[in-house]
Amino acid sequence: MKLEGTCVVVTGGASGIGAALAARFAAEGARAVVVSDRDEAGAERVAAGIGAAAFAVPCDVTDEAQIGALVDGTEARFGPIDLFCSNAGVIALGGPEAADAEWRLSLDVNVMAHVYAARVLVPRMLERGGGYLLQTASAAGLLTQLGSAPYSVTKHAALAFAEWLAITYGDAGLKVSVLAPQAVRTAMTAGVVDGGVAGVDGMLEPADVADAVVAGLDEEAFLILPHPEVLEYFRRKASDYGRWLNGMRRLQARFGGAGTPT
Ligand SMILES: NC(=O)c1ccc[n+]([C@@H]2O[C@H](COP(=O)([O-])OP(=O)(O)OC[C@H]3O[C@@H](n4cnc5c(N)ncnc54)[C@H](O)[C@@H]3O)[C@@H](O)[C@H]2O)c1
Repeated sequence: MKLEGTCVVVTGGASGIGAALAARFAAEGARAVVVSDRDEAGAERVAAGIGAAAFAVPCDVTDEAQIGALVDGTEARFGPIDLFCSNAGVIALGGPEAADAEWRLSLDVNVMAHVYAARVLVPRMLERGGGYLLQTASAAGLLTQLGSAPYSVTKHAALAFAEWLAITYGDAGLKVSVLAPQAVRTAMTAGVVDGGVAGVDGMLEPADVADAVVAGLDEEAFLILPHPEVLEYFRRKASDYGRWLNGMRRLQARFGGAGTPT
């Protein structure tokens, strides 16, 4: 997909990866970039910094009605959405003992928001012969997140949903990509030192991730891996699960359980 002249929505656009995606899409010539976030002031700041092609629209992605309004409002103002980026995400540390509220929020933001966006957009995109969904998962959706079961589980679910959409509607013109980085320097990883587990393969800047996304969209690649090592880890996991689990235990013993997205 070429971004020139497109109408794009980015959720979680007020910060980090989403803000970098929005800026990069505008630089690539998108005609309208909707910077959406539950942090309205942050979205406005990001949109103002990008310039005339960017527009801030508040939306809490855990609320299906707000996603519907975001899509309807964008299409009424700018025409059909060519690319919708479900990028908002949250992380909660811990395992089964993490509070239900943390599990539910992770499920709502990291999974159900993608479902709500697809529910409203897939029929419209199929009707018009095509469209593109970019879903920000994480390398944790292919591998795991040391120290966070809610993140690991919900990012796997996000990946599974994207696979399902790509298989079910790919022949009808729907394009789907999944963004699966390891550590990126954003608010989510604030306070994490580069030398920790996050630093094993290097902490990327959000702009590096945006470069990888533009290249991945151009190729219409299903998996967009800003840290290319992740593909090899995924292969190793698939070829010998037991050995991969042992390796992850060693990594956890070395760095402790509370990691950043891996
Ligand atoms: N930073 C990393 O190392 C890393 C690695 C892999 C994947 N990711 C994923 O990248 C995406 C972006 O994260 P980031 O690192 O830029 O973090 P970030 O915290 O800088 O940005 C996340 C944004 O999502 C917004 N958000 C959270 N809940 C929301 C809701 N309910 N409705 C609307 N907006 C909401 C926040 O306000 C924030 O602006 C997330 O899905 C995250 O899981 C991040």
